[in-house]
Amino acid sequence: KMMAEYRFPNEWMKGDMVLEPGVTPETLKKIESFELKEGDILIATYPKTGTTWMQELVWLICNNGDIKQARSMPIFERVPFFEYKLDGVKSGLDVLQERPRPYMIKTHFRSEIYQSQIEAGKVKIIVGIRNPKDTLVSLYHFYRMNNNLGNFKGTWDDFFELYKTKHIVFGDYFKWYSYWLQYKDKPNVKLIKYEDMHHRMSDVIDDVCQFLGKTLSRDAIPDIIQHLTFNDMSKNPMVNFNALDLLDKDISPFMRKGKIGDWKNYFSEEQSSVVDKHYREVIEPLGVKLEFE
Ligand code: A3P
Repeated sequence: KMMAEYRFPNEWMKGDMVLEPGVTPETLKKIESFELKEGDILIATYPKTGTTWMQELVWLICNNGDIKQARSMPIFERVPFFEYKLDGVKSGLDVLQERPRPYMIKTHFRSEIYQSQIEAGKVKIIVGIRNPKDTLVSLYHFYRMNNNLGNFKGTWDDFFELYKTKHIVFGDYFKWYSYWLQYKDKPNVKLIKYEDMHHRMSDVIDDVCQFLGKTLSRDAIPDIIQHLTFNDMSKNPMVNFNALDLLDKDISPFMRKGKIGDWKNYFSEEQSSVVDKHYREVIEPLGVKLEFE
């Protein structure tokens, strides 16, 4: 069976978590010992939960809503992907060294890597979450188009079987959130939902501004909201990773659909009940409610 063979090599593993290729044990050590300081911001998300959207939002909030400057520099240089390192491309750590503090950083690691930093309470952390069904569909398409993830050529059903084995890049969704959500009520941690960014972007902007201790001029907000729409972002090369050859845009664009409820076009009833069960067991008891449509 194809899926039985779809195992990532051992050097991509950190315990039960599959790292992205390029995340070496050395990088991991460097990140674990990297001191995050007062004013630094960490955006911690499970892959495909709207990370890029959140990065763009946070960058704008920290830069007086300067859309012009946002359009002049790729997002991975403004808000580097901490643990990422590909051949021929600067690592997230390298990009950071060239940036002035305070740092804005993206990470897909589980919270255990940052435990001491979370306890120290200096860095502010935004944890992004999206309902698991849409996240999995988005991740399925990402597996298909990302040549770095073992050339996955399977169907949705194949991907779902893979999900059930929990052998997924950056680890199982539910385990990932069971780690991060234990910190959600700490004063230096803020949980933001993808679905709220859809329905209530202006509230989310207020919320994030308040959390980060920043203000935006009222007049700037309509343009920011427009800049952050799926329509505008899908046409914006600075947030689309166009320069990265490893993403095959003919298979699926990076900004694919940006919808809530697309999972209904993929999930069978049985698959849906598998995820519902995990949701009820892991997410609901933590007092988090997510929108699925
Ligand atoms: P879909 O594949 O469902 O379209 P990440 O940045 O964590 O990789 O997440 C990517 C997902 O966020 C994709 O989901 C992408 O379309 C969606 N996304 C990115 N920008 C968005 C926006 N401005 N509005 C809505 N969804 C957005």
